[in-house]
Amino acid sequence: MSKEQPKVTIVGAGNVGATAAHILLLKDICDVVLVDVAPGLPQGKALDLMHLRSLAKFQHTVCGSNDYAQTAGSDVVVITAGVARKPGMTREDLLGINSKIVRSVITSALEYSPDAIFILVTNPLDIMTNMAARISGLPKQRICGMGGVLDSARFAYSIARATGADINSIDALTVGAHGESMVCLPRFSTVAGVPITELLDEDEVAQVCRDTVTGGAQVVAFLKTGSAFYAPGASIARMVEAIIRDSGETMSFCAKLEGEYGIDDVFMCVPVRLGAAGVQEVVELPLDEQELAQLRDSAAKIAAQVATLDL
Ligand code: APR
Repeated sequence: MSKEQPKVTIVGAGNVGATAAHILLLKDICDVVLVDVAPGLPQGKALDLMHLRSLAKFQHTVCGSNDYAQTAGSDVVVITAGVARKPGMTREDLLGINSKIVRSVITSALEYSPDAIFILVTNPLDIMTNMAARISGLPKQRICGMGGVLDSARFAYSIARATGADINSIDALTVGAHGESMVCLPRFSTVAGVPITELLDEDEVAQVCRDTVTGGAQVVAFLKTGSAFYAPGASIARMVEAIIRDSGETMSFCAKLEGEYGIDDVFMCVPVRLGAAGVQEVVELPLDEQELAQLRDSAAKIAAQVATLDL
């Protein structure tokens, strides 16, 4: 694998990690290294994806490994390793087991890619991102979490269903935790530029927001054996693409707040500009008092959970 090509490591070659790899390769964005503890799993999925190469016509390559040596010098490390939800579980129920996994993964990955940008995906996402940032000591530009991209995509879908509008005409935005205290922002979510608060009545807006917050749980309830992976995989690919192509585009994801929105020292989902150096800038929207209160409540809930960890 030549280092001239952008190199992205994905730890956790399960549903989410492998789907992200698949999309990154179909879009020919970067070389990919899949890492997993399960013997043969990353190797098998990488080989299957390489068999796809002549069909899908991509130039980049993918390999799989059970150790980190092959990940050396990655530009981006995505962490999806961990356990997924089963019906009836909240993301927070995964905290005990996944925090142990993420601790060991971030330490090993960092050893081989000290200059990489890290994207946390393992749930509970916000807690894992806060924890990984403290353990790694990485500068805030180089560590973030995927969450708001996915929640905003789910919000867009709910808006399309409620309004009948073309999905491509919708810009939707969620902030806050990737969990129960997620904050949908209807005033900042538009159909062809018109805020949905002008297109739907209060009850309809509330229903669209509820559908968004419960979107992940709805998938879990159908699947029974695991959680969502197509939209999460695509959300990871979108963030990785912004970094590799240095797009500087703004999207909602989990980044460190240092006074923005009156919130300090918490990683949570807000609109952020993302480029080659990682997190470029938190964008401060003119939130009203109610929206701000919801965001700060979400921040307090994340901080309270982070405080329960032995860091
Ligand atoms: N190191 C590397 N890989 C690990 C480790 C570890 N220490 N522990 C577990 N894994 C791997 C598993 O072997 C498995 O292949 O993580 C993978 C997780 O894949 P799935 O079980 O398919 O779960 P997935 O649906 O991909 O979700 C992964 O992302 O969206 C979140 O909530 C979700 O926390 C979950 C994570």
